[in-house]
Order: sequence, then structure tokens, then C-alpha cells
Amino acid sequence: MDGNKDVLKNNIANYSGRAHKFADWAFGSEASSAAEVTSKFLCKLKELEYSEPLTIIDLGCGPGRDLDVFKRSTDPTCKAIGVDACQKLCSIAKRRSSCEVICTDFASIGSFFATSSVLGIFCLASLFHLPRTELPSLLKLLYELLMPSGLLLTSFSYSRDEDRAMSDGRWNNSLPLDLHQQFLIEHKFEIVEIFKCRIYNGQWGVVISKKS
Ligand SMILES: C[S@@+](CC[C@H](N)C(=O)[O-])C[C@H]1O[C@@H](n2cnc3c(N)ncnc32)[C@H](O)[C@@H]1O
Repeated sequence: MDGNKDVLKNNIANYSGRAHKFADWAFGSEASSAAEVTSKFLCKLKELEYSEPLTIIDLGCGPGRDLDVFKRSTDPTCKAIGVDACQKLCSIAKRRSSCEVICTDFASIGSFFATSSVLGIFCLASLFHLPRTELPSLLKLLYELLMPSGLLLTSFSYSRDEDRAMSDGRWNNSLPLDLHQQFLIEHKFEIVEIFKCRIYNGQWGVVISKKS
């Protein structure tokens, strides 16, 4: 447990120490790659037969670039809520997107959202900061929060099979695509779409899956 608290503390210390620089990077050179990912997610959300606006969570929203995209989407219209544990990035995200942003860690989101209350959970370049041993309980929680047929987008760097702290203190869980899918399938998700994305100096395997 203490080890896990240290992981969170080290991840957040890193982002707090460079929050504005990270925001400039996210909204600058990385925006076009992220736009491809948000666009694919919105496309799949649009196919769901639910009345709009569709409630979605941007889990690990960082400075709010994708919250802003979801908020501006007109087809489908969405109500996007951000979640991030870094207070400084949460403040930037609120200011830049005008969306609600909850400052908490991934594992605590069950206290803020009711069971079967959201249609989409979007995790771009965020869940890799969680040690692999913690992924099963989080996937179980995300499954519970989704409405039937609700969509989850997960992304992990896939070039190596690695689960350890990086030299800058942040945790890195790199999951090859077959393992990434296996985790989702074992937690009752149905794979909908798989693609690759280049963002934040890495190659990411991205999977959109569905609450079956
Ligand atoms: C690489 S950034 C990605 C941010 C955003 N999704 C994007 O694509 O720009 C990773 C984010 O995950 C957040 N994060 C890391 N571990 C977290 C945890 N356990 N709970 C909540 N947020 C966390 C960090 O604060 C950071 O904003």
C-alpha cells in the first residue's frame, strides 16, 4: 500500500513540477495526434443509441486538451468531466476547457460517479502510470461505472513489456498489444477497435472496448 502511495506521489510530483510546460506541449505539437484519437472515440460514441448529451470521463485528463474537444463536439454532444490527481494540471484543465474537473486519483473515482452512470471513459496516455498489479481492480471499477454498451478507450506504450519506475520517478507500465487486450477481455470488455498512435515521444497501442 505504501509503495502504491509512493508511485502516485512520484507521478504527481513530476507533473506538478512542469505543469505549464507539459500543458504547452499537450496543446501544441501533440494536439493533432490526440485529435485523431478523440475523433475515433467520438465516432464510436455516436453509434450508441443513447440520448445526448453523452456523459464521458477523461481519466487522467492532464491540462484538458481533450476535454475541450469533447465539450466542443456537436455530433454527438457530450458532457465531459475530467479526472486527474495533479492539482496544477486540474486548474489548467478547468481554465482551458470550462469543464468540471475532479482532482483525485484513478482508484477513488467510485466515490464521484454512480454505478452505470457514464457512457464513455477516455484514458489517453494515463493508465500506464499505474503499476500492472493495480490494473485489474481499476478495470473492474471502470466496468461498473459504464452504462451497458458504454465505451472505454485505453492506451499503453506497446514496444516493450515493462512495469517499473522510470528514471524521472514516474511509473511506466508498457503493455504489448496482446497483453493489453487480454487484460480487457479478462475484465469482460469486448474489443471494438484497435489502432496505434504516436504521442508524447512514444508509440501507443490504443484499444476501444465495450461493456458487454
Ligand atoms: C502523460 S499525462 C496525459 C494527460 C492527458 N491524458 C493527455 O493526453 O494530454 C498523464 C496524466 O495522468 C495523471 N495521473 C497519473 N497517475 C494518476 C493517478 N493515479 N490518478 C489520477 N491521475 C493520474 C497525471 O497527473 C497526468 O496528468
